Amino acid sequence: MTAVAGTDGRTVDRRAVISVLRRLRSPQGQTDPLPLWAELRAMGDVVPAPWGGYLVTGFEACSQVLRGRTWLVPDLAWQDRLPDPGRWQAPATREMSHALSRLNAPAHTCRRRSLGNLFDRQTLAAMQPDIEGHVAALLDVLAERLRTHGEADLVTCAAELLPVRTVGHWLGIPAEHHARILDFTHRQVHAQELLPTAKQLAVSAEATAEMRVFFTDLIRQRRARPGNDVLSGWIRHWDAQLPDDRAEADRVLYYLVMFITIASLETTATLLSVAVRLLLAEPGRWEWLRERPEHIDDAIDEALRYDPPIHINSRVAGEDTVLAGVPVARDTMVHVLYGAANHDPRRNPDPSVFDILRGGQHLTFGGGAHYCLGAALARLEARTFLRQLLNRFPALKLADGPVYAPRMVFRRVTSLRVTT
Ligand code: HEM
Repeated sequence: MTAVAGTDGRTVDRRAVISVLRRLRSPQGQTDPLPLWAELRAMGDVVPAPWGGYLVTGFEACSQVLRGRTWLVPDLAWQDRLPDPGRWQAPATREMSHALSRLNAPAHTCRRRSLGNLFDRQTLAAMQPDIEGHVAALLDVLAERLRTHGEADLVTCAAELLPVRTVGHWLGIPAEHHARILDFTHRQVHAQELLPTAKQLAVSAEATAEMRVFFTDLIRQRRARPGNDVLSGWIRHWDAQLPDDRAEADRVLYYLVMFITIASLETTATLLSVAVRLLLAEPGRWEWLRERPEHIDDAIDEALRYDPPIHINSRVAGEDTVLAGVPVARDTMVHVLYGAANHDPRRNPDPSVFDILRGGQHLTFGGGAHYCLGAALARLEARTFLRQLLNRFPALKLADGPVYAPRMVFRRVTSLRVTT
């Protein structure tokens, strides 16, 4: 059967949805997903997913799902209620089910409160000189590469390294471990794709085991030699909360530090590469922003709207409900399509125009109780990076790329070659 119950009285062809999703994952779809998001939006705000549940494409409907109290993240309790929970039981998938983003209240509220506002003004001000230093050092490497080779890969020289240096420094993780952290993060992420293959799950399982060893060791070593750093603070907090259960305190700490680290890496790196790509895509745009650095923050937000580092996030209905006119039964999973939502012309007119001064709206950092904890840090990294890049490389140009990893959920630019 190819026709599935549609929205607004429409019938949606299952094969058409599969075709768009397949094209989204292809190199062409990764390079230019805009027409595919438009195709999905044209099918409705709430489109039946071929494997059950729904894809949510409209801005308003996505925002409602992210912010609504009746929508939950797919936690372990939900997974265990499924008639066939197989897809959720792969070790790497299961591991992520304990992370902050997969907890509902009250466990989520308790963990999130324990972190407070991680990147408040004061913390960011204290981090800023370090971030300036990391950017300057990375751009020295970029400059040298451009001088000796005539072109350079912005991703491997700088964009991918800034987030791991920033968060590594903040958590007190020595630089010698950064390459290893990046490596297992890139491999672990497969398990968080929509329909990972058995081979991808095996790669993720191996990466998950490495990740567990790494962060467990980190906590053990920090516990032995605590300091005034953020991780020592978390250890003190959870030891005080769970005075009689050190093993449980270690478990909570592992999931916190592991998830915060990996959540901060590919996402921010993708933002940096995408922002540069979009600014160099049109003649004169780079120079325009260089002369008006007061609009760097606007450019960052437009890049976040235009090409979000995370494409898809999932929620489940906590009760029988109606979404954009479509009845959705309790426990049904829906997939929020951030890119499709950000390009909804009802919210952002002429969505395919990259307009730094648009003052548009986006859902790129999610919403509601799970709103991204690192949004302010990601913005600070992007601001510092762009400001220095604009100053030091007034004649920067695209040489080749971008090249994207073939992913559906977590976007990753693997190469962006630039020249001067
Ligand atoms: C451009 C960079 C980033 C993007 C686009 C991004 C995006 C997101 C999104 C979409 C979510 C899910 C929100 C939801 O479910 O409603 C999220 C959650 C989260 N992000 Fe980010 N993120 C970025 C950078 C960071 C950084 C730098 C950190 C940490 C240093 C971080 C830590 C987290 C954490 C801990 C959560 C889980 C929050 C919760 O479930 O309560 N993110 N992020």
